[in-house]
Amino acid sequence: MSRLILSKVGGDLNDTVKLDQDPDLTLGAEELLVAVEAAPINPADLLFTAGWFSVQPQIPAQLGAEGVGRVLQAGPRTDQSLVGRRVLILPTFVRGTWAKQTVVAARDVVPISEQADALQLAMLSVNPATAYGLLHDYAELKPDDWIGLTLANSAVGQHVITLAKRAGVRILAVVRREEAAEQVRALGADLVVLDGEDLGDRAAAALGDRRLRLLLDGTGGPQHVGELARLIEDAGSVVTFGAITGQAPVLPLGDFIYRSISLRSFFILSWIRNTPRERLTRIYTELAELVEQGVLEAKVEATYPLEQFAEALAHAGRERRSGKILFTPTAVA
Ligand SMILES: NC(=O)c1ccc[n+]([C@@H]2O[C@H](COP(=O)([O-])OP(=O)(O)OC[C@H]3O[C@@H](n4cnc5c(N)ncnc54)[C@H](OP(=O)(O)O)[C@@H]3O)[C@@H](O)[C@H]2O)c1
Repeated sequence: MSRLILSKVGGDLNDTVKLDQDPDLTLGAEELLVAVEAAPINPADLLFTAGWFSVQPQIPAQLGAEGVGRVLQAGPRTDQSLVGRRVLILPTFVRGTWAKQTVVAARDVVPISEQADALQLAMLSVNPATAYGLLHDYAELKPDDWIGLTLANSAVGQHVITLAKRAGVRILAVVRREEAAEQVRALGADLVVLDGEDLGDRAAAALGDRRLRLLLDGTGGPQHVGELARLIEDAGSVVTFGAITGQAPVLPLGDFIYRSISLRSFFILSWIRNTPRERLTRIYTELAELVEQGVLEAKVEATYPLEQFAEALAHAGRERRSGKILFTPTAVA
């Protein structure tokens, strides 16, 4: 029974990530032992290894935030009917999913569809939930309302486009290369603008008289929000969900003061913590149904067994991928 652990914060992952062949899988009264079917490598996992995430690694730290698996054993103070059930493992950044088997708190799992694709389920608890929260928690969006979306070809972006289209919401998408533009057009983005010089002018020309109710920004830095804020309606919001450039978003002062544009943020760990359990289960069940129907899908570029972790991590760190990289620690049904 092996799992991946982090032996040191920061530095080269080739030196710091190790395969632990003999993990302690002692089960507490309120815990479950889960055989992990699949678990993605997300940008946040890489931030975590560098010590740049909200949760600091306690060395040796377990790795892998989310995944899907099957319950093998249930502690005495948990629901015994969970044994044999497939569950989503919600992110904690304390208990890892890059493992053949892992022990997790019973409160950190949600029983989930047996039918849906395991790879897609493994990625359900973070990115689709983020897309859901971005579209529901900051404005009441109606059909034909417009939103702006940067990092539109990321997995989060793809899910935002899919969920927004289903609600009739229109999307101005920003990506940084032509293949990604094709990808988001095919998903249903209404207008696609390539990142780069004069982004704001080109986006304004594409949008015409229409205004954005929300700008969902995953890029950060002064450029994107700085150039696109003028397209947001008065009193609308920028919602930051990521900062892939490593820089904070910058909202122009005039938009902030004269037009009451607000700068807000989404963070999945807070969202999971603050969402009542019943709503959380309902949302994940709905999202899993969309996966089962083939509506909600994040492209997958490759899967790896745990033992090939060095290749997997290097692959996940590459830019211009066509999809996500996942571990498949035990056979995927
Ligand atoms: N706030 C939250 O709770 C939350 C939840 C989920 C995700 N996120 C964040 O959302 C972002 C997307 O996550 P994901 O899992 O959807 O990512 P992903 O599918 O792995 O996609 C990565 C995206 O980042 C782009 N990118 C990579 N390096 C870049 C750079 N230097 N400059 C500009 N763009 C760059 C890629 O563009 P190319 O394809 O052109 O390389 C691609 O669009 C990440 O920052 C992640 O941390 C936040």
